[in-house]
Amino acid sequence: MSDQSMPARPEIEGLLLESRTFPPDPAFAARANAAADLYAEAERDPEAFWAARAQDEISWFTPFGTVCEWELPFARWFVGGELNVAYNCVDRHVERGLGDKVAYHWVGEPGDTRTLTYADLQREVNRAANALLELGVRKGDRVAIYMPMIPELPVAMLACAKIGAAHTVVFGGFSAEALADRINDAQAKVLVTADGGWRRGRKVGLKHHADEALASTPSILHTIVVDRLGDGCHMVEGRDHWWADVVGRQSDACDPVPVESEQMLYLLYTSGTTAKPKGIVHTSAGYLLGAAWTHRMVFDLKPDDVYWCAADIGWVTGHSYIVYGPLANATTGVMYEGAPDTPDWDRWWEIVETYGVTILYTAPTAIRAFMKQGPDHPAKHDLSSIRLLGSVGEPINPEAWLWYHEHIGGSRVPIVDTWWQTETGSILISPLPGVTTTKPGSATFPLPGVAADVVDAEGRSVPNGSGGYLVLKRPWPSMLRGIYGDPERYRQTYWSRFPGMYFAGDGAKRDDDGYLWLLGRVDDVMNVAGHRISTIEVESALVDHPSVAEAAVVGKSDEVTGQAIFAFVILKAGQEPSDALAVQLREHVAYVIGPIARPRFLLFTPDLPKTRSGKIMRRLLRDIAEGRSLGDTTTLADATVVDTIRDRTGGTED
Ligand code: WT7
Repeated sequence: MSDQSMPARPEIEGLLLESRTFPPDPAFAARANAAADLYAEAERDPEAFWAARAQDEISWFTPFGTVCEWELPFARWFVGGELNVAYNCVDRHVERGLGDKVAYHWVGEPGDTRTLTYADLQREVNRAANALLELGVRKGDRVAIYMPMIPELPVAMLACAKIGAAHTVVFGGFSAEALADRINDAQAKVLVTADGGWRRGRKVGLKHHADEALASTPSILHTIVVDRLGDGCHMVEGRDHWWADVVGRQSDACDPVPVESEQMLYLLYTSGTTAKPKGIVHTSAGYLLGAAWTHRMVFDLKPDDVYWCAADIGWVTGHSYIVYGPLANATTGVMYEGAPDTPDWDRWWEIVETYGVTILYTAPTAIRAFMKQGPDHPAKHDLSSIRLLGSVGEPINPEAWLWYHEHIGGSRVPIVDTWWQTETGSILISPLPGVTTTKPGSATFPLPGVAADVVDAEGRSVPNGSGGYLVLKRPWPSMLRGIYGDPERYRQTYWSRFPGMYFAGDGAKRDDDGYLWLLGRVDDVMNVAGHRISTIEVESALVDHPSVAEAAVVGKSDEVTGQAIFAFVILKAGQEPSDALAVQLREHVAYVIGPIARPRFLLFTPDLPKTRSGKIMRRLLRDIAEGRSLGDTTTLADATVVDTIRDRTGGTED
């Protein structure tokens, strides 16, 4: 990298050879929550191990019987048990005398702040739960949530859990169409939303997207709208209710509804290799256990920590590590509404200093964005409160790991590189701080109880020093229970590639010391700024435009976002390529899916490289996008196509 803020550092170049290791600091290890004997305990008897954790972590209304019923690929954990997830995250802490402990320090982008104690959270959750009951929501129903990062978002999720309803949170950056698809798939009865939120110093409306979606979502009977911006918005009489009215008028008391362990807690939609998003099903006890236990072990959570996961709650990271895991552990957390560069690039470091953040969990794409701005921004603030750092969402390159270690962690704190997925519910591969010696860029080892392996194309475990496919060979408590309404797609997607194993879709290698290095997705799913976006969804959105005949999309490696979307577009006859049309097509994708899916590069081409059977050869498109020399072209139906396309590269860039 040539950026002047990042001087050439030969000593780091050497580290890229994976040679440097970071053993635990003995002082940290002496106080660590995790201990090395957990691995052996879990391997001796995984079910007994999880049963013991489930006793410790969860307050049960009815004890469970069978630990795990496993009829591949369908698992049921802690069968016969009854619990309430919101009770575990809020009420029990207040009962134990922690009512005055802060649950969230919330920071709005314009600088407004709110502090919610566990007693505040209990009151708000109960009122919101009573409001949902008043609007007709009952145990087993689905509630859609489409909100900015404001405290009412976790309150709404917990309100659902309190009455045994399932939520489906749709990231606020998604379009009206994406919202409508998810509402319809989930058949949600109520939508909780807001007039809008703040982003990069501007008001960003949400309710108008919601209104557009609601034109095609007959299952929605009511909405609850938080007044975040104070400018008013279009409200439909009888359907739309202001949060302040419908929640404000409710009683502070609401009894938790006991649910069975396998009651659906939430649905979260994620990209797959077809255009239709998958509704990933998570249930109650196993999920809560996974989130709570890993949160305490991997982040070494202590009662006086101030923990900040800087993700958006619209993604699984926020579900597990802003809401359920931290709250189950009675954590004091920070929640920030806005962008990292508003008003300036030191916004996060100012927040760390103000609240004395001790644990920070973020994504490599954010770290690389900070690197690009230079170390002066963090250097302006006292970050000495930080005692542990986490990374998630994509492989972290060693250079970013080392920058994070030095400039944010003061070269003194452990970094946990945590691998997991929407489907896994909680972290599965990660160092245990105080136990594991880390290597920059490696997620190290599976957590205790997790049977992860790297296999070859035939499903055989590879030896150290080799690469292959990452699989999981044993069920785990927080695993997805399926794809909503589509058991066959669940089996096909995750359990058919390697019989008897869960295939995560990621490539991985195991080095000579047995450390795991995640190598990214092997399917047609891109990882853009830590978000999974399938190529086919973007292609469908492009072809949806009246001037487009055909489109092919690939991920192009990007210094900051990991991958950037590169679209190859064939226009219909009579349509002329132009920069204006390229802009229009990009906006069209943003409109149909959301701004995160807007292609960065767009190239008009008369044809696409195809095999004789008509399959687009993405591998070649990737080579073209990356400006590499082409791999094997012998299976191409028409070899001149790639030359034509390459002559045009440069295309238009965003
Ligand atoms: C995919 C899951 C897990 C919450 C955020 C994303 C990639 C995730 C790592 C990591 C290398 C990682 C994988 C995975 N990924 N964490 N520490 N190292 N890759 O959730 O949207 O379900 O995406 O993110 O490719 O399959 P998701």
